[in-house]
Order: sequence, then structure tokens, then C-alpha cells
Amino acid sequence: MTRADPRLYVALDLPGVEEARALTAAIGDAVISYKIGLQLLPIGGMDLARELIDQGKHVFLDFKFHDIDATVEKAVRSVAGLGADILTVHARPDVMAAAARGKAGSGLRVIGVTVLTSLNKPALEAIGYTDDAQSLVMRRTQQALDAGVDGIVSSPLEAAAARKIVPDDFLIVTPGVRMPGGDKGDQKRVATPFDAIKNGASHIVVGRPINAARDPRAAAIAITANMRGGS
Ligand code: C5P
Repeated sequence: MTRADPRLYVALDLPGVEEARALTAAIGDAVISYKIGLQLLPIGGMDLARELIDQGKHVFLDFKFHDIDATVEKAVRSVAGLGADILTVHARPDVMAAAARGKAGSGLRVIGVTVLTSLNKPALEAIGYTDDAQSLVMRRTQQALDAGVDGIVSSPLEAAAARKIVPDDFLIVTPGVRMPGGDKGDQKRVATPFDAIKNGASHIVVGRPINAARDPRAAAIAITANMRGGS
């Protein structure tokens, strides 16, 4: 049995691609799926993405596109041929519809970021939203379905309600995942790996609990075991 579980994406939120390469080497065959985000994008992140794809890894590009329709469509088209698995855009109806056009005919799966997991009710109110996170996630999940994208990003706490209104193959990707008793950092809406999957997540994203761990490979193995229902 291979140890790696493709449902666990490790976030390569590190200062440079050399650190990211060292992390993937240290983790070895314990992880097959990696997420590259905005921190590495301007400093070699796409070279790293291509290397990981060439190594047979699943690559999730967390670029959270949010722009006018034409720009989003063309940007997604630029990403679509690269061989990455997943790309994020913000879950606004027009942005998601443009992204769905941009990825048409490719194997890329586009998912809409519903509400950042670092935002709770006071933080949402401060930026002018009167909906709470749960209502906003549900509204945007329906809009993702209508727009024809492949899934959403939500916190594990909203995944269960979202799962009830989407088909089985619709992706629900949840960051904000912490081991029991783990440090939350700036995340506000969190759950354990096991609970995230139980709540209907198709994939989980884990950053600091692995990329800042003293032993990242051991941390990834523990999180995988927890996700699969172990301790
Ligand atoms: O270190 P931590 O496990 O909190 O990292 C979570 C990762 O998931 C980060 O890369 C963050 O940008 C990303 N993310 C998130 N909330 C979202 C979408 C993405 O935390 N809604």
C-alpha cells in the first residue's frame, strides 16, 4: 500500500523554491499532492510546479484569480495547458463563469474560493458583508454549480451543508485543518483532518502543521492517518 493519500494537499507556503524543494524531498513518498500559492508564484513557483508535475505529483495552483471576465478567461486558458490539477478563482459568479470558459476542453479543475478561512463574522462585517460565513458559502456554492466550475474551497465547518447541495464528484477543498489541539495560527474556522473528510471534504489543504513542523514527513503521515480515520 502506498502511504501517500492524494486527498491531502500540502501547502508550499515557504520563502523560496529551494526551501519548497527541500520540503518535498524531506516528505518523500508520504505526500503526492502539493499546493503552490502566491508566495512562490513570483519567485519560481511555476518552474517548481512543472518539476512536481514531471515527478508525477498532483499540483494545485492557488492563485485566487479575481478580475474582469476577459482577463480571468485568458489567464485560466494560460494555466489550462500546464498539467496542473486544480486552480482557484474567487467565487464570484462572473469570475467563475469566465474561468469555466477558460478551462474548457482541458483537464484542469477550477474551484471557487467561497469565504477565506481566516474570516469570521466580525471580520466579514468589517468588509461589509451582512451574511455570516455559512450563508455566504452556501450562496457561493450554488453560484459555483450554476457557473459550471468543478468545486469550491470552504472551511471544514461549512463543508457538510455544501456537500448536501452538490453532486458527489463536485470538489470541496478545505483548508483550516488542524490536528486535535494543534495551533490554529490565523485560521478561525478549523476542524481536524478526520472531521473535514467526514463533513464531506473531497480534499484537505494543510500548510503550517506540515511545512513548519520539525519533522514534516512524520507530520504528514500523522495527518494522513487521522484523515483516514485513525488517531
Ligand atoms: O498554514 P495553513 O494550514 O493555515 O495554510 C492554509 C493554506 O490554505 C494557505 O496556503 C492559505 O492560503 C490557503 N487557503 C485558506 N483559506 C482559503 C483558501 C486557501 O487558508 N479559503
